[in-house]
Amino acid sequence: MAIQKPATRPDHVRPSIKPANPRFSSGPCAKPPTFDLTNLSDAPLGRSHRATPGKAKLLAAIETTREILGVPADYRIGIVPASDTGAFEMAMWSLLGERPAQMVAWESFGAGWVTDVAKQLKIEHTVHTADYGQIVDMGALNYDNDVCFTWNGTTSGVRLPSGDVIPADRKGLTLCDATSAAFAVDLPWDKLDVTTFSWQKVLGGEAAHGMLILSPRAVERLESYTPPWPLPKIFRLTKGGKLIEGIFRGETINTPSMLCVEDYLQSLTWANSIGGLQGLIARADANAAAITGFVEQHNWIDFLASDPATRSNTSVCLKFSSDQVADGAAFAKAVAKRLADEGVALDIGAYRDAPAGLRIWCGGTVETSDIKAMLPWLAWAFETELEAQKVSA
Ligand SMILES: Cc1ncc(COP(=O)(O)O)c(C=O)c1O
Repeated sequence: MAIQKPATRPDHVRPSIKPANPRFSSGPCAKPPTFDLTNLSDAPLGRSHRATPGKAKLLAAIETTREILGVPADYRIGIVPASDTGAFEMAMWSLLGERPAQMVAWESFGAGWVTDVAKQLKIEHTVHTADYGQIVDMGALNYDNDVCFTWNGTTSGVRLPSGDVIPADRKGLTLCDATSAAFAVDLPWDKLDVTTFSWQKVLGGEAAHGMLILSPRAVERLESYTPPWPLPKIFRLTKGGKLIEGIFRGETINTPSMLCVEDYLQSLTWANSIGGLQGLIARADANAAAITGFVEQHNWIDFLASDPATRSNTSVCLKFSSDQVADGAAFAKAVAKRLADEGVALDIGAYRDAPAGLRIWCGGTVETSDIKAMLPWLAWAFETELEAQKVSA
């Protein structure tokens, strides 16, 4: 496609308008636009999290999550230690092994879960992978097995278009790492038995606390199956063969940060104020669409995700496609650094294990006006870096 330059400013001319907020990191992600530390003053600091105010806050965090995400009333929602990683590993260690597992990965976080099953749990399993930018054919999996997958591959910008191919009458469980999808897509709860995410992603909360959502079938498995390996206290969801129900009412396994809980509650309040899940999705879609418009106008940049149907609306991963770029990795790093130095885009370099390029977070806490203000800077940084490359050649 031909390059269409903006009418008023050629790409090599330094833009004058900067984003009001240059934070486009893929985690921890930008705080909601209304965030202010003084909003956290109602946190019950210095009090036990098991006292009435603390318990009420934890329960509110659970129930407001349910309300915004549309989680069915018979699904359990728990706040657990160690962020999304803790929640997902707790689920794998507690549930897997009863039947073979199908491990699905199309980028580095999914690949990490494959490693856990292959090298640590060592259970019977098959591995289904796709290269960065591609996706696994989810319709070709055996759902009589347990299936572990990541909804939105944060490091490749590839996400499932929907859960339609997952059978409702499956015999196995589906374990879904939805950390960069929850609050940005309409998750099909009837297709998900375990769903995990962290507050630090789409809602711009703090890290260290994970959310674990269990379907009734997942609870049934927990109460009917005991894995053959030892489980540390921090992973234990059952006692005497019964689910520890308290965890799903805010009686956490160990001590949470009430400051982080307050911060999450503030994010949820903001999410409700902009129209809940549909408002959040619309904001992420608008951000991603602004980038799509830019990519369509510039023939030197492209999405890592090859199929538009699988393109993420949160972690948008881009690659430099121009053959004028000599060393892709060095070039992408230099562009990201230039943008950071200008204070127009922070933390947008591709993930360390992913192909060279940029990753721009587009989740709902990011303002579309900031994405739009940043993109001319990206064009400028590309042109400037090309010039610099020529000089040093
Ligand atoms: C898909 C995915 N899974 C897991 C993680 C790990 O999350 P956390 O550091 O919150 O445990 C991340 C973090 O970026 C992620 O993107």
